[in-house]
Amino acid sequence: MMHSKSDYIAVFDSGVGGISVLRELIRQLPQERYLYFGDSSNAPYGDKTTEQVRQLTLEAAEILTARGIKALVVACNTATSAAIRVLRERYPELIVVGIEPALKVAADRFPNGRIGIMATQVTLAEEKLSKQVDRFPNVQIHRIPAPGLVELIEAGHTDGSQVQELLECVLRPYVGQLDALVLGCTHYPFVRNAIGQVLGPDTLLLDGGAGTARQTRRCLEAAGLLYDGPGCVDMENSSADPALLKRSMDLLNRQAE
Ligand code: DGL
Repeated sequence: MMHSKSDYIAVFDSGVGGISVLRELIRQLPQERYLYFGDSSNAPYGDKTTEQVRQLTLEAAEILTARGIKALVVACNTATSAAIRVLRERYPELIVVGIEPALKVAADRFPNGRIGIMATQVTLAEEKLSKQVDRFPNVQIHRIPAPGLVELIEAGHTDGSQVQELLECVLRPYVGQLDALVLGCTHYPFVRNAIGQVLGPDTLLLDGGAGTARQTRRCLEAAGLLYDGPGCVDMENSSADPALLKRSMDLLNRQAE
């Protein structure tokens, strides 16, 4: 199928998390037309089986590819871990970019350091992450699940006592123990300030949003598919709750922390 420069870049996540990646995309490629799709009616993906996540991701991709898109950005670490390979097999002519935890950035910065990776159960358990971890034998890597955090962010809590208590409970054992914490779930950049408050200023917080946007630019450039505007964002969600779209726009318009 022929793609045109003015086709959408589709950006997909299990819910509102991928908006942290969309923000980066818009920052780096403001002239593009974006179609954001959050699957909030099925969120969270992170405690489902790999097979369920793969199936949900393929269903979302089917909806999005039917809309005439020139690229699909999987702005969800969990869906990338579970489904990026099958997506590329199924849509060989489409640019498919998947987000990955910023482990390499962290390891390059601290080659003999102590790095935490906070992500969903699926991402932490998948072979994709183990392979990445194996590339950095000199780095001490801690896998840190944060059960319940995605649900809070989906419900609109990005600060306040519930978020604070959960983060205290998850991260307290790591205070003073980490050179960097990789935010391996696209929801987490929305609670970056709260995470920083628990870990303190000596732990660098990294996420994969900027790298994913750079990779998207490289792929579009190589294919001659960069658009020169005017840019736009269409926001869609599988949930019928109108509050979710409002929350999505609020998150998009919020300054990055
Ligand atoms: N935002 C997703 C990620 O980057 C996962 C959230 C979920 O569990 O649905 O992994």
